[in-house]
Amino acid sequence: MATVGLPYREGLEAPSFFGALGDVQGRSVLDLACGDGVYTRWIRGRGAASVTGCDLSADLIARACSIEAERPLGITYTCHDVVTMPHLGLFNVVTAVHLLHFARTRSELAAMCDRVRAHLAPGGRFIAVVAASRHDPARSNLAPYGIRITHPEQLQEGDAFTVEVLTDPPLVLTNYHWRGTTYREQLTRSGFHHISWTPLAPAHPNDQGMSFWDSYLDNPHVGILTADV
Ligand SMILES: C[S@@+](CC[C@H](N)C(=O)[O-])C[C@H]1O[C@@H](n2cnc3c(N)ncnc32)[C@H](O)[C@@H]1O
Repeated sequence: MATVGLPYREGLEAPSFFGALGDVQGRSVLDLACGDGVYTRWIRGRGAASVTGCDLSADLIARACSIEAERPLGITYTCHDVVTMPHLGLFNVVTAVHLLHFARTRSELAAMCDRVRAHLAPGGRFIAVVAASRHDPARSNLAPYGIRITHPEQLQEGDAFTVEVLTDPPLVLTNYHWRGTTYREQLTRSGFHHISWTPLAPAHPNDQGMSFWDSYLDNPHVGILTADV
């Protein structure tokens, strides 16, 4: 996934995610929906003691493993569907950058939240990048930021919508619409506390200045969700 370099990823998502993640020195981290391991390697690079990446896609895990073989960082990768994954151990931190909005049903969402909870040690924290349910694709054009979203007109809970990541070639993803309150309710049922949403915030101006981000920030398509055990 050649998403490194996309304005939204580099200028907003990654700095906001790492701001929420905080210091991981000496911590164990499980990175769910790791894809080919972009964030997994970044997390390890920030001093996490051990990092495990997990993704549904055998191709992406194979790519992550071949990057690990070329430039070893001591990351372990494993291929599982989070909905049905076996227990991989207890971690201080579980991360999921674009996972929960891939849940196709409320019961898949429940299983994902339960699996995340089961992998957290006492005092552990879950940090996720999750689709913002209030995003209105009719209101602003996210193409300058590297994203195009197509919704049905009246988006209902559980409806599918399309996210195009404007790489070359574009990456077309099907995500599912869950309200912020649904994520909160489900995480609470899974045993989480202190559930909070943080909006994305730019770390630095774009070439066109800080105002470049205004249109995105007025109608963001994701936010950062954190929850404690
Ligand atoms: C948009 S990509 C994000 C990858 C990575 N987190 C990143 O930001 O570069 C979403 C990833 O979620 C994975 N995924 C979707 N549903 C999943 C599930 N049920 N279990 C595990 N991985 C899943 C996909 O295979 C894909 O790699």
